[in-house]
Order: sequence, then C-alpha cells, then structure tokens
Amino acid sequence: MSIQGPKTSAMFDRALAALVNGVSSGWRYWGDDDTIVLTGGEGAYVYDADGKRYIDYHLGFGPVILGHGDEHVVAAVTRAVANGTTFAFTQEQEVSAAEAVKRAVPWVERLRFTNTGTEATMHATRLARGFTGRDIVVKFEGTYHGAHDYVMFSTPGDTTDALGSPFSPVPVVMSSGMPRPIGGLVRTLPFNDLEAAERLFARDGANIAALFVEPMLGNAMAIEPQPGFLEGLRELCTRHGAVLVFDEVKTGVRIAVGGAVEIYGVTPDLATFAKAMGNGLPVAAIAGRGPVLGGWDRGGIIQAGTYSGNAVSTAATQATIERLLTGEPMAQLDRVGNALMDGTAKILADKGVESAVLGRPAMFSFYFGEGDPTDYRGATGHDEDLYENLVMAMIERGVMPSPDALEPWFLSAAHSDEDVATTLQVFEESLAEALG
Ligand SMILES: Cc1ncc(COP(=O)(O)O)c(C=O)c1O
Repeated sequence: MSIQGPKTSAMFDRALAALVNGVSSGWRYWGDDDTIVLTGGEGAYVYDADGKRYIDYHLGFGPVILGHGDEHVVAAVTRAVANGTTFAFTQEQEVSAAEAVKRAVPWVERLRFTNTGTEATMHATRLARGFTGRDIVVKFEGTYHGAHDYVMFSTPGDTTDALGSPFSPVPVVMSSGMPRPIGGLVRTLPFNDLEAAERLFARDGANIAALFVEPMLGNAMAIEPQPGFLEGLRELCTRHGAVLVFDEVKTGVRIAVGGAVEIYGVTPDLATFAKAMGNGLPVAAIAGRGPVLGGWDRGGIIQAGTYSGNAVSTAATQATIERLLTGEPMAQLDRVGNALMDGTAKILADKGVESAVLGRPAMFSFYFGEGDPTDYRGATGHDEDLYENLVMAMIERGVMPSPDALEPWFLSAAHSDEDVATTLQVFEESLAEALG
C-alpha cells in the first residue's frame, strides 16, 4: 500500500516532472509511490499534501533542534532578510554569530562559516593537507562526511564483505563518477578499534594529513566511542603530526550545546559543525584552536564561498544558540528523549525482541539483534526488515522516523510529553504488526 494520499501522489507527479526523481537530494527519493511531499512544519510536526500530520523524528536529517518554525529563529531571520543578506564584506551579524558559537563551544578559538556540512569537511580536508604538506586522509567505516569525493569511502550502506578484513580494511567507493586515483589518498578503519589505528599510523603516519571521525556514529546507529578510544586517536594524531578533525555536523550543538567535546572530554584540532547550529537554515562552520587555523592566516590555502557567513543563516545560528544556552530546550529534549528511549526499550523487551537502544536522548537508534554493536560492521548484523516494517507501519500511523535503521531518531525541544505518549502507543501497535 502506498503511503501517499491522493493529493500527495498528484504533488509528487508534479515533482517528478520538474525535479530529477522528484527530489533535490538523492536520499529523499523512496520510490515513485512512497516519496512523501510535505507542505510545511510546525513545532514537532510536519504535514503532507493531504493534510496528514506526522510527529517528526527525522527533523530534516537532524537540524531542527528547536522545532519547525521556532519563533526566535523566525524573528531573527525575518529581521536579517530585510536588512540585506549577502555582501562582499564581513558583516556584523556574522561576527555576532561566531561569538555565539564560541560561547556554546568554549574550546573553539576561531572559525569560518560555510553553507553546508559538505563544504565544511571539504575545506577542513584542504586546510589539513595544506598545513601538514601531506595527502592521506583517514576515516572510519560507516561514517559519512559529506558528498565530496575525498571522503565518500566506506560509508553507511556498504556490506561487511566489501570492507575487507578489519586488519587491512578496503576503502569502498560510494559513487560512480569519483576519480579512481582518489582512492589512493584514503585509508579506512573500523570504529572503536584503537589497535587498527595504531597499526595504520605505524605504517603510514608520516603521510597522514588528517584523521576524520564522527565522535559518535551519527550515520551508523549513534554508536558511541568506547572509553579511551577518542583519547587514543588524540594521542596518535599528536604523536604523528596529523590533524584530528571531529566531524560534528550531526552531534554538534545537539548531543550537548558544546557538542561531543563537552560529552567525551577530548579536544580535536578542528571540528566541523552544521545542522543543529542553524535550526534548518543552511549554515556550517570549520572551527578550531591552535596552530592549524594559522594555515589560513598565512594565506595560500584557499577557502571561499559567496554565501558563507550570510546574514540570514548566521542570524539563525545566533538565535538558535542563544536559545539553547538558556538551558530550557536541552532540558526538555533530554526529558522527552529519555522517556522515548526507556519506553521503547520496555516495549521491545516485553515483546521479546532482542535489541539495544543506542545513543543519547537528542539522537538515538535501534539495533535489532544480539549484543551491542561497537562499530559499523557490528551494526550491519541487524534485522533490517523488521526495522523497516516497523517504521513504515509507524509512518502510516503518523509518526515519522527514518526507515533506515542506521539513521538515528532526532528529537527537538518542541516534542512534548503527549507526543511521547502517542509515539509509544504507535510504536507498540506497529511492532505487533511488523512481528506478524
Ligand atoms: C557527519 C556528517 N558530516 C557531513 C555531512 C554533510 O552535510 P551536508 O549534507 O550539509 O552537506 C553530513 C550529512 O548528513 C553528516 O552527517
């Protein structure tokens, strides 16, 4: 049965005639009969073209931390757009937003804004290479660092067989169109396996420009780092002169206002932020401390972008962060997130489903299988069909997480106790249906 009502179906036909596959980003296409067209959002809800309401746990792949159409962000953006949006100069709004980021993430000394997470990781890659004079980039299996060619290897969705032995992982190309020689500049590693990282650095350390890591696997079930893992990566990078980059595009300003550094206590050289820092407006940043940013000070390493630091996106950033710094939104988000994690874990246990609820209240996932996975390879052992059947039954009933088990559920401060109660009821009914 299609999840499109008649008006949504007609709207998607219009979309298909004007947009390739009816979407502007490939992963939004769920098939001709199952791609939903939304007309708007408010708070914790989104509405489709048939007027059907969904409690939204997708939140645009994570950004909407205060809820759709948050009044503080709307007011700030409205003021900014009327005052001129893009100039060929630094603007006051951009400086105020950068200061707000520094207040939220106190280890950050300076930053540069970009528009998307992809741009941020692309510029962080070039900065690290320019600073170290080296070419190789290391990343972990099951992480996603954006859609540029240098990092699209061993991303979520690859089979364990394709990834090779954990002792000598094979970087798996994500897309046709990526030039083959780039594969020679990438090394991949299993997450939480410090010994594998040590072996790689012992062999290749003198050529490694940067090690990128999502400190919590935001694209692979919100798997968390084991104690000592991030500390070990920090030590390895320092010892070998490589730049440690935390990709906090999903975790930043979300799992805590200060991001993963606030939670795990390990400080990188650079971090990339995006998503929750703008509550849905296109804004991102490469932030850091210490000598690496000096690569830009000295010149010769290009970073540029016409819209970077534009007044509208940075007004959204400042408003979002100032609101989060009051403490209220995070307290609400933690409360409802914990209630959902506990409630769903109880329902799963009562129904005898072997499972684990992974992650943190702002961003959590379900692993349907034995034990707790500690890396992407472990996560691939989950019961994919059960999860997808569960989520599709939930979507029919008006609750909207991603049907991809690797993609976490995202919470916003607009989710209420009532939303949690409805979600738990829908979860229970849908699970019973999915179990047959
Ligand atoms: C960890 C991480 N880095 C980078 C990106 C790319 O961000 P964008 O889609 O804004 O280019 C994403 C997108 O989901 C991400 O999850």
